[in-house]
Amino acid sequence: MQIQWLRVSLLGLAMVSGAALAAGDPDAGKMQAIVCAACHGQDGATGIDPTYPNLAGQNEAYLYKQLQMIASNERQILLMTGQLIGKTDQNLRDLAAYYASLPGKVGEAAGDDESVALAERIFRGGILEKGVAACSACHAPTGAGNAAAGFPAVNGQPAAYTVAQLTAYREGQRRSDESMGGMMRGVAGGLTDTEIAALADYLQGLH
Ligand code: HEC
Ligand code: HEC
Repeated sequence: MQIQWLRVSLLGLAMVSGAALAAGDPDAGKMQAIVCAACHGQDGATGIDPTYPNLAGQNEAYLYKQLQMIASNERQILLMTGQLIGKTDQNLRDLAAYYASLPGKVGEAAGDDESVALAERIFRGGILEKGVAACSACHAPTGAGNAAAGFPAVNGQPAAYTVAQLTAYREGQRRSDESMGGMMRGVAGGLTDTEIAALADYLQGLH
């Protein structure tokens, strides 16, 4: 409890002084990313398990924010618990800058025509009767996200990772969108398992 509190308040201090520090340095981030490669791959885009996300080419603002939340346990990722202990705010910025500087990778959708058409319809137009907003409004028509707003790229992620995330938002288990008014929980709340599976497959190959 005490240690947890100390870690959170140290992180808070680091965040306050963060404004005065330089932006992320990709070269400094690269040095620290050696341990990350064990799970996320040497190129940041070949995780050792399909439920592990690609980091390469993801926008820096999103990566930095997720790293802060993972470090403070606001976004709970058991496998990453030990990975960020002792990292300063600058370390997190450097890691985010490094992964953002790497080229992203896009795979291919494996679903049949019907599944791809369903996903494309939702991605571009949402589902009006269920109040599901069009994904492309925030994640861009290519799925590349919106770097200025810190909205993540969602294309090229392994489908199993995307299924897990959309399901976790829907079930209220992932709450990292709290500072943004719970917008992803709102969107995912209206999706069925079939729609989530179709979207995840489609996004894997979108570019
Ligand atoms: C033992 C395996 C493992 C190691 C080592 C590891 N990660 Fe992860 N990481 C994961 C898993 C698994 C997830 C996704 C879990 C989930 O939410 O389903 C993840 C998620 C992330 C995310 C969130 C990505 C997104 O799209 O939201 C970031 C950022 C990240 N890791 C960065 C790092 C960095 C930087 C390091 C090295 C300091 C690292 N990871 C080391 C397993 C690992
Ligand atoms: C109003 C804007 C908005 C809309 C509409 C939206 N998203 Fe998101 N999405 C976000 C934001 C912001 C985040 C990051 C939230 C966080 O930090 O957890 C996010 C996160 C995600 C993630 C997790 C990315 C990762 O790397 O872990 C996935 C997957 C995703 N969105 C898919 C979708 C899909 C599919 C749709 C349409 C059904 C959609 N989004 C609609 C704003 C939006």
